[in-house]
Amino acid sequence: MAADGNHVVGPREQELFDTATEYSFRGRRDKFAFPVPIIVSGSGSVVVDTTGKEYLDFNSGQMCAAFGHSHPKIADAVEASLRTLVHCGNTILNTKEIELAKELGQIVPRPLKKSTFLTSGSDANEAALTVAKKATGGFEVAAPHLNMAGLGDMARQVTFVDGWHTGYGPGQPGVYAIITPYCYRCPLKLSYPSCELQCLKLSMELLDAQSCGELAAVLTEPIFSAGGVIEPPPGWLAALKEACHERGMLLIFDEAQTGMGKTGDMFACEHEGVIPDILTLSKHFGGGIEVSAMISTPEVEEKAFAAGLVMGHSHTNDPLGCAAGTASVRLLVDEGLAAKAKAMGKYWRDHLENMAQRYEVIGDIRGRGLLHGLEFVRDRESKEAFFGFAKDVGDRCNQKGLFLSVRRKASMLRFVPPFTTTNAQFDLAAEIIDSSIAESLDARANGKGAS
Ligand SMILES: Cc1ncc(COP(=O)(O)O)c(C=O)c1O
Repeated sequence: MAADGNHVVGPREQELFDTATEYSFRGRRDKFAFPVPIIVSGSGSVVVDTTGKEYLDFNSGQMCAAFGHSHPKIADAVEASLRTLVHCGNTILNTKEIELAKELGQIVPRPLKKSTFLTSGSDANEAALTVAKKATGGFEVAAPHLNMAGLGDMARQVTFVDGWHTGYGPGQPGVYAIITPYCYRCPLKLSYPSCELQCLKLSMELLDAQSCGELAAVLTEPIFSAGGVIEPPPGWLAALKEACHERGMLLIFDEAQTGMGKTGDMFACEHEGVIPDILTLSKHFGGGIEVSAMISTPEVEEKAFAAGLVMGHSHTNDPLGCAAGTASVRLLVDEGLAAKAKAMGKYWRDHLENMAQRYEVIGDIRGRGLLHGLEFVRDRESKEAFFGFAKDVGDRCNQKGLFLSVRRKASMLRFVPPFTTTNAQFDLAAEIIDSSIAESLDARANGKGAS
């Protein structure tokens, strides 16, 4: 690290990067845009790179370390499991999966109750779709056009955000997009509530027109995180559930980014009391260890089971992941983290609102609890999106020791700070963002930034 705190590249970093370029498969372009920091350790809300520089991690890693990096209770649970049983065949029950199913079954809202455990958000969503197909006998599925469900091959089918279908061959038959209720930029140019949720009505008309009569499910995030931290307007989720059930479809909520206390409720679906037929959890479920969950009602489980469901992978319900899952559920409950996230979210939002009073380029602030986003506009009147601006701001924040994500063609910043973040760390993050916005505006005014 340089004396001014700036990121420097020494011989060790160069050597590590050269090794990665030679041996690591390059699955993402941004990761290999050297000089990006190379991380060696993390604790709570801070990660440290090879030069010793510290970063406040307002991404929670890939949103999976929201309970804090290297949480001791997760480490203890994993260590104990490592010394007793790591893996178990998935045609046999093991104590850790039963323990976790019970713990989770006791905190999910009824009628949800029965769980199975997988390893990623993608395979939890794929399991949910598999179950919905078996339980309904249909195969057609739909998801909002800014939804993110993962990059597994079937999960990618119902991931419409960011153009991640390009170059991956023909889509699966019977997969449809419906309209995301993005009220700040209503695709129908209407206003809530006088719109009376026309976006949903039109979506269902289109779905009915395209369907071959074998509808199975709609899968949606309750807040569209990757899509731009978009919260559906009040009533949309309830109306969607009704529309699904009228058609014999199941409703699946993907709570990868919103569940487990993150948005101030135990699960985001409880915010408006709309309980889906199937819920999936991943990301910080398990405290950073790769474990995910698919939870359904007993009724759905019975139908799928009776129809001869066969589902699971080599590591489905493995004791190691389940031990971490149970530790994360206990952490959430014992430490009252949902209520804590609500209070922390308010503290953070006050900072964002404060910045919005000074910077006209902040067009909208969205989100709840520990999931917030800022959308930049060229001016508030026209709401013209300020594409590219968030990249400039985000790069400066990284340089100053703050990780965050840049979304929506770089017109948005997204913040997912861990539950361990202190008020002093929020204050520091706000200072870094504030000065980075000011510098990015100055650079543009002086003709030094991209316009
Ligand atoms: C809402 C949501 N669902 C699912 C996934 C996919 O999870 P995974 O990458 O673990 O497959 C993501 C990933 O970012 C996500 O944001």
